[in-house]
Amino acid sequence: MRTNGLIGAEFYNILDLALGTLDDQPITTPSTRLCQGENVERITELNRRYGIPHQVSFSQEPNGFVFVDVTNPQATARIALQGAQIIHWSPKGEAPVIWLSEAASFLPGKSIRGGAPVCWPWFGPHETQRDFPAHGFARTTLWEISGVESRPDGTTKLVFHLPESATPKNQWPHASTLESHITIGAHLEVDLVTRNQGNHPLTLGQALHTYFQVGDIRTVRLHGLDGCSYLDKVDGGVCKVQQGAVNFTQETDRIYLGTTHNVVIEDPQMQRQIHIAKRGSASTVVWNPWIEKAAKMGDLGENGYLHMVCVENANAAEDVVMLAPETDHHLWVRYSTTALTST
Ligand code: BG6
Repeated sequence: MRTNGLIGAEFYNILDLALGTLDDQPITTPSTRLCQGENVERITELNRRYGIPHQVSFSQEPNGFVFVDVTNPQATARIALQGAQIIHWSPKGEAPVIWLSEAASFLPGKSIRGGAPVCWPWFGPHETQRDFPAHGFARTTLWEISGVESRPDGTTKLVFHLPESATPKNQWPHASTLESHITIGAHLEVDLVTRNQGNHPLTLGQALHTYFQVGDIRTVRLHGLDGCSYLDKVDGGVCKVQQGAVNFTQETDRIYLGTTHNVVIEDPQMQRQIHIAKRGSASTVVWNPWIEKAAKMGDLGENGYLHMVCVENANAAEDVVMLAPETDHHLWVRYSTTALTST
């Protein structure tokens, strides 16, 4: 059986990994004991173990992709088990805050264009190995769910972890764990927790590469970076200093360095501000590919670049984290919105 290029046994193995029942096998290992009926049972099992009636449910697309849908009195959200990637979040009664490309493809092992990809354990190209995947392997790896909680304050908390068996040892020969604690409500919080379980310090690059939905990028202003130094990747990586708010008039790809400031996306078209708070992040990456690069990318959708901006809470370039043995690092973010009132 073949489903959108994915061999049947492979996609059943994906579900085994989601349930944590195939710890020692890579997802491409064929399994002979799986059949269609069992696959349905695995989604049933995810729902039985972690589902909450009318609040948290698991479903599967025909090509094997598994999603968690969350609905609570404050918000709706959708998370793909691949990459533990949030692909939708709308506070109740509001337009989506997280942007997902209309042309996004959902293929096992391929990055999803939009949402909030987890870049880990390096940001951008690997420092020395150009054949390693850009932004690390966490975003294209199947994560497992380890807990779901309906909280008294009306929010829903989900915890995901990257299984050790899914870590390519040739790319990351270190003893470490990665968890993502996601809280869905009127605010969206993500706490990305890395633990160094080895005997040596780790060098860690990372980002929550979130695509935010905007009305028209040409009218957006980004506040909170005035006076910060940044590496301008569209100008050969030259270091510059931000003057005032960030405006978007062309391809923009910048790593703002040494900044722990919160930032605000001001969106006059959608008449809202998106507030981005962070801790444990010393860099802020700002990216919009603009028209030509977007056309080459192929998965941004028609005019998609007009309706998105990536503001990524990161530890990148010279801001990588040195993580001592037996210690944790938390990259924490909180997104919220307010109506934009004219001044
Ligand atoms: C940004 C980088 O974080 O991600 C850009 O600064 C890059 O240089 C962009 O183009 C998208 O990366 P990818 O791998 O998802 O296409």
